[in-house]
Amino acid sequence: MDAVRSNSSADLPIFWKVHELVFLARNYAYGLIKGQPARPVLRYCDEYDRLLRKYANLPLKSAKVFEIGFGTRAGIMIALTSLGVDAYGVDLDEPILHGSLREIRDIYRKNGFERALKSSIRFYAFDLLWRRQFAQELKRRGATLQIPRNRLRVQDAASVDWPDHSLDLICSQAVFEHIPISSLQRLVPKMVRWLKPSGIASITPDIFTGISGGHLLEWFDLRKNRRRRSEPWEHLRKRRFHGNVYLNELTRAEYRRMFSQYFEILEENVLQPNQGREFYTPEVAEELKEYPEEEIFSNGVQFVLRPKPLM
Ligand SMILES: C[S@@+](CC[C@H](N)C(=O)[O-])C[C@H]1O[C@@H](n2cnc3c(N)ncnc32)[C@H](O)[C@@H]1O
Repeated sequence: MDAVRSNSSADLPIFWKVHELVFLARNYAYGLIKGQPARPVLRYCDEYDRLLRKYANLPLKSAKVFEIGFGTRAGIMIALTSLGVDAYGVDLDEPILHGSLREIRDIYRKNGFERALKSSIRFYAFDLLWRRQFAQELKRRGATLQIPRNRLRVQDAASVDWPDHSLDLICSQAVFEHIPISSLQRLVPKMVRWLKPSGIASITPDIFTGISGGHLLEWFDLRKNRRRRSEPWEHLRKRRFHGNVYLNELTRAEYRRMFSQYFEILEENVLQPNQGREFYTPEVAEELKEYPEEEIFSNGVQFVLRPKPLM
């Protein structure tokens, strides 16, 4: 039932859910200790500014932006609005912004018990600290942290409507791989209509064929000496374990095909080239020989898109 209400929980045995939760907590803790989480969110904003200036001759500050899949922390949306950008976002899951009992009850009602539990643990264990680090980063840029509650819509992105040609930028990080193909077939043509002719989209799915594309959290941290139950590219090989999320399993070539029906692809950037190369032994390569190396070493791939002129 939860799988329908929130796609960040899949139908898996409880021991594996706990295992995945422990790895998630370890990954967050590692990021916090290293002071990493605040910076990437601002780096996304800098990247959107670069793209808008290059392709639309517009600074991010003057753009109207729509984020697809802001996540329960709504980090990019918090960053964009704190920087004074006219930004809006959508997500299937309720965000957790204040950690109040009422908010947790609303998450439970909308997205189920598991989502409410995960969001509450994360909020009190990590998000409050993250906010403090983030507020300091913003201060260095002369900005103050804003929580954009009334700019966050909670619904399926494919059911959203914007007036035609009303947006300068549509952005999305690590979301499209979670959207069923039938919904993508509705969403992608809508995105073309929503964008101004000069507008662009920056869509970065986590590609299924990469080493962490199966969303087994053991493979989100690639340090070699870590103990893992699964093998490298387990999700393409033995398939014994599954991530605790819904995945549409699209390959990089399939995204390229889908986007190029409606968009000109201006850039296609692999965020971490060669990721997992040290695990790609000759035996693994032999088993995966049906996949070209560009699929195997894709993880986050940023597609920068401009609407094709309408016929
Ligand atoms: C891995 S999280 C990424 C969140 C955020 N973009 C980030 O980078 O932290 C994926 C998000 O996509 C959302 N999502 C999945 N399918 C969606 C849909 N059809 N419409 C809107 N959001 C969706 C999920 O609820 C989840 O919050």
